[in-house]
Amino acid sequence: MTTSSLLILGRGSDPASERGVSCPGELPPASDPTLVERARVAKAALGDRLFVLGHHYQRDEVIQFADVTGDSFKLAQEAAARPDAPYIVFCGVHFMAESADILTTPDQRVVLPDLAAGCSMADMATYDQVEECWEVLEDAGIADDVVPVTYMNSSADIKAFVGRHGGTVCTSSNARRALEWAYSKGSKVLFLPDQHLGRNTAVLEMGLSLDDCVVYGPNRPGGGLSTAELRDASMILWRGHCSVHGRFSLDSVEDVRARIPGVNVLVHPECRHEVVRAADEVGSTEYIIRAIEQAPSGSAWAVGTELNLVKRLAARHPDKTIAFLDKTVCFCSTMNRIDLPHLVWSLESLAGGEVVNQITVDEETARYARAALDQMLALP
Ligand code: 13P
Ligand code: SF4
Repeated sequence: MTTSSLLILGRGSDPASERGVSCPGELPPASDPTLVERARVAKAALGDRLFVLGHHYQRDEVIQFADVTGDSFKLAQEAAARPDAPYIVFCGVHFMAESADILTTPDQRVVLPDLAAGCSMADMATYDQVEECWEVLEDAGIADDVVPVTYMNSSADIKAFVGRHGGTVCTSSNARRALEWAYSKGSKVLFLPDQHLGRNTAVLEMGLSLDDCVVYGPNRPGGGLSTAELRDASMILWRGHCSVHGRFSLDSVEDVRARIPGVNVLVHPECRHEVVRAADEVGSTEYIIRAIEQAPSGSAWAVGTELNLVKRLAARHPDKTIAFLDKTVCFCSTMNRIDLPHLVWSLESLAGGEVVNQITVDEETARYARAALDQMLALP
């Protein structure tokens, strides 16, 4: 167990972690009936000085104020394309705001309305653990053959590690292109920190077999792998996962197929391999939105991704049956940390000239992380 995992959300602080930082300001009460109006007024006062980015998993009460919504790839592109806005308010999670800070100019300030909006998956790979893993690969005599690829859902430190070792960042929208690029540079890939996205992309999209993949456990000596296993593998997957998408099971798929005849099962690639295999379609959040938009009226869909997005899709497409893949309700608790009181507090503070909850990445880390992010943005 890491030190950070002992922190309770919203109490105390661990600057190296994706979680556990208390709000430094006076939050308006959630019951304040004027919150929507207050957000509108503060946003109007900031005008072109403000750009609000909203990830698809954000609450409706927040997403209504986003200038642009998107998956993590689209939001990274949008942040990089707005050099004129001095304030970027990121309604998403910590690693996304870090990436926005890296991709924007030094004068721009990136604000995360609640600093406790981290990501449990990103927390599953710390810098020291990844350094140690690289030493294991060196000891096995294979480090020169390995290209590191990290999912966007990782800390800036990890992205910098990958940049320093000639690798790339990827998102669920471009994981296949990132792997194609990586295998053109080396014979092996170290994929961080989501084993499921790595495995699903390698096996279902690149034609690798499950036997080509090994899982490196950061809490086990040598990752729990022998030198021979490391040498034989072409895909070294980090033992990390998303606690939200990891909940969907084969039972959920079988159950929904029994409950809704003719249903199409559409899942995010962060889901487990057997779930993705049993599904009809797999894709990033942008892909999921497009697939539902283009689906014929009257069709039925069970969607395996975060609940805020699934609920929004159901409301937006009343002519289609849209169900959540699992019977048990499950939001991403850290995405949900960004609520209207935190948004109002950060917008009003900015309008009053005070920058709160600014996310900054130090220059050295930002330089190497940017190399890995630029490599992603340049993928063919
Ligand atoms: P995408 O935005 O890349 O689809 O990723 C989903 C996710 O879990 C973000 O935290
Ligand atoms: Fe992290 Fe999963 Fe939440 Fe995305 S949905 S922020 S990967 S815990």
